[in-house]
Amino acid sequence: MKKFLIMLTPAAIMFWASPFATAQEARQPAPVTVDAAKGLPEWDKIYAVFSHPRCAGCHVADDRPRWSDAHYGGTRVHAFNVQRGSDGSGFGNPGLRCMTCHFSSNSNELHGPPGAENWHLAPVEMAWFEESSAEICAQIKDPARNGGRSLQDVALHVRDDKLVAWGWAPGANREPAPGSAEETYVTIESWMAAGAPCPAK
Ligand code: HEC
Ligand code: HEC
Repeated sequence: MKKFLIMLTPAAIMFWASPFATAQEARQPAPVTVDAAKGLPEWDKIYAVFSHPRCAGCHVADDRPRWSDAHYGGTRVHAFNVQRGSDGSGFGNPGLRCMTCHFSSNSNELHGPPGAENWHLAPVEMAWFEESSAEICAQIKDPARNGGRSLQDVALHVRDDKLVAWGWAPGANREPAPGSAEETYVTIESWMAAGAPCPAK
């Protein structure tokens, strides 16, 4: 909430400084016009990243991370009976924590554990594994399900987070997510500028 107020401040100052501004205008941020023709193709590129196995395998609604695509011989739950963790933290069960096997960088062995700092599952409400494009779109726009983030914060998380970065550098024989972190950040920004439209399904 504090961040949100700080973000609004420059706009609010402009309104206060303008001799033409009414009290009503000063209270309301300028509405962004939704331009679906421009925004939906941008969303499709974002969806291609978020739904990619390198991203979606950690964003599951249940307790099991997923392994998927050719490197794993298809889509399946993570081997070794790996679970979210009885405390719900996403770091695994006591005795079989993710970081027992996943270190801060990728193993060089084919089929060795990939790695990045603080390897763990995303919270259940941030689930998008096998969800539709419309569902993932609604999820990332909903502060109740995205960790209280504005869309700007979501874009910055994609640009700067180390677990996200792994999706583009996943180690031997795994297909990386399409594009790059920087490109996806820029795409989210232009999707937002077009009013962040979501597809019908
Ligand atoms: C190793 C597991 C892991 C991988 C791989 C991963 N994430 Fe996440 N992701 C997380 C965790 C944990 C969080 C929660 C972080 C937080 O809220 O501080 C998260 C949160 C997020 C969020 C913010 C919350 C939301 O739902 O909007 C976004 C956006 C996101 N991840 C995008 C991605 C993208 C894009 C990729 C692939 C390029 C990816 N993630 C790959 C674990 C992962
Ligand atoms: C007993 C060791 C072990 C534990 C514990 C473990 N993993 Fe893994 N994990 C692996 C190995 C090995 C691979 C790579 C397998 C391969 O390449 O065939 C892997 C791969 C992955 C992948 C990559 C999937 C993909 O599609 O590329 C994700 C995501 C993942 N693990 C998440 C987790 C999470 C989250 C936890 C904790 C809740 C966890 N792992 C606990 C051994 C482990």
